Amino acid sequence: MQVTSSKELDIGESILDVEGLSVVRSGNLIISDIDLKIRRGEFVGIVGPNGSGKTTLLLSILGILKPNSGIIRIYGCEPMCKSNDGRVSWVSQAASNLPRNLRLTVRELVKLGTISSRNMFSLRSNDEIVNKAIEMVDLKDVANTDIGRLSGGQRQRAVIARALASQADFIILDEPLVGIDREARSSLLKLLDVLCHESEKTILMVSHDLAAIRQTAHRMIYLEGSIKFDGETSKFPKLTELAELRGIKPVHDDSHGHQD
Ligand SMILES: Nc1ncnc2c1ncn2[C@@H]1O[C@H](COP(=O)(O)OP(=O)(O)OP(=O)(O)O)[C@@H](O)[C@H]1O
Ligand SMILES: [Mg+2]
Repeated sequence: MQVTSSKELDIGESILDVEGLSVVRSGNLIISDIDLKIRRGEFVGIVGPNGSGKTTLLLSILGILKPNSGIIRIYGCEPMCKSNDGRVSWVSQAASNLPRNLRLTVRELVKLGTISSRNMFSLRSNDEIVNKAIEMVDLKDVANTDIGRLSGGQRQRAVIARALASQADFIILDEPLVGIDREARSSLLKLLDVLCHESEKTILMVSHDLAAIRQTAHRMIYLEGSIKFDGETSKFPKLTELAELRGIKPVHDDSHGHQD
């Protein structure tokens, strides 16, 4: 299987540059030899089995985990450098599982996203930013409702609105589709796609939902300790080819192009 790069997708300036990244956790090598370049406006999906290092990669990009080797540059400097303050936003795995007893309205939750030194110098008022973010995720009607009373899909949208309110240009999402129904899932993916195309956001999203993510991401990465595939979504390998990449001989013949 040929590993393609994003070089031919000349969408915009480089937002993320990762070269030769390896990360060790508790003495175990979790990810290695990661080379990854993401440009402005790209929507990149990451898939891979449980424990394959997807969250580890995201946490390294965010600067939470320190690389064992290799370099990571976001907007040309280290992940947590001063000039990147407020430029990157993270929606964590199970972020919408907010505690039921947390008495916050959607508007209050979204407003929490505006706490960043970058926004303190913003000319637009926080209220304007918060209203716009709520509008973008289509939660205007429930803006003053307690988040505990929302559906899973609505809560996920509220968490994304919080990320939008931070005015970050680079949004990193870890499994945002878990626990929400098919309809909410597809409208969430549509929203993320609109953010890329109309608001020039750059999105890096981990998901187990291969079928859903393939409908929207421009580019897909298959990660299993290292990057086994990186290329256009239309070229993402079939299940048999994936098995080959993983060194597994498939039990069933999948040569008729069936995908899960
Ligand atoms: N805090 C930690 N200390 C040591 N090892 C860890 C830690 N967190 C995760 N790991 C190990 O790192 C490996 C990769 O974990 P990671 O959470 O990055 O995988 P993942 O691809 O995000 O999995 P999932 O799909 O289940 O979310 C796993 O083997 C896991 O046991
Ligand atoms: Mg994970």
